[in-house]
Amino acid sequence: MFKKLALGAALALAIPAASFAAGSYDQHIEDFQFSFEGPFGSFDQNQLQRGLQVYTEVCSACHGLKYVPLRTLSDEGGPGIPEDQVRAYAADNFFIYDEELEDERPRTPTDHFPEVTAAGAPDLSLMAKGRAGFHGPYGTGLNQLFKGMGGAEYIASLLTGYTGEEKEEAGVILYENTAFPGGWISMAPPLFDEQVEYADGHANDMHAMSEDVAAFLMWTAEPKMMARKQAGFVGVVFLTILSVLLYLTNKRIWAPVKKGKSS
Ligand code: HEC
Repeated sequence: MFKKLALGAALALAIPAASFAAGSYDQHIEDFQFSFEGPFGSFDQNQLQRGLQVYTEVCSACHGLKYVPLRTLSDEGGPGIPEDQVRAYAADNFFIYDEELEDERPRTPTDHFPEVTAAGAPDLSLMAKGRAGFHGPYGTGLNQLFKGMGGAEYIASLLTGYTGEEKEEAGVILYENTAFPGGWISMAPPLFDEQVEYADGHANDMHAMSEDVAAFLMWTAEPKMMARKQAGFVGVVFLTILSVLLYLTNKRIWAPVKKGKSS
């Protein structure tokens, strides 16, 4: 009887896992090592700045970041760009229609990044949390704790996952990609080696740039990740101390009763 029950429970657990696996058949996600992984990981400020450059020079032609306020580029846990540079960056790169002026004006740090819809490309603000490269919201949660859900890995794998094959379907050109679910994506390969020139002379091959922009998009999706990890750590320490104190208090309160019993 118990065996049957255990078998049933195991099957019930296995079926959803199996159907999830079937959806992502031969999808390949590379396990990149990002600085922000793990319970104590943090964003690499230089990498976020390089990623911002890749986004600005390449991706922003088609993809918006409409939920991200430009002023957050100077946040300490983020790219940490000085405020005057953020002001210049916003004004130089993005315009906005101002209803009061009834005209276009350069964006300021109080505006958000633009919304871009022309190319039919999805907004990237939350993409790194919207896509799970591995683990996903399944399992015990331990893998997610130590390695994350792989959203940044998914984006970096997507950018480097083109095989070079193309096909036309209903008038749309599709490109074969080993990371995209289904294997064919309508986004043409956006990155090529040495497309973006970094001021700090950092490697700018396609892999390096993909990791940089993926890290930047992880930050846009979760700008408070470092503060959250810190708060979590303080919480765990606090609860540990509290548990010890409660245990000792409990022992003390019941000590006379226990004593009485044994005598
Ligand atoms: C020429 C326009 C264009 C450029 C430039 C471009 N993309 Fe895309 N992107 C698209 C389109 C169109 C889609 C939708 C593809 C689909 O669903 O088949 C897309 C989809 C995506 C997706 C979502 C894939 C998914 O799982 O749904 C990500 C992530 C992405 N792009 C990242 C980037 C990054 C990062 C860059 C810059 C390095 C970039 N894109 C540059 C047009 C573009």
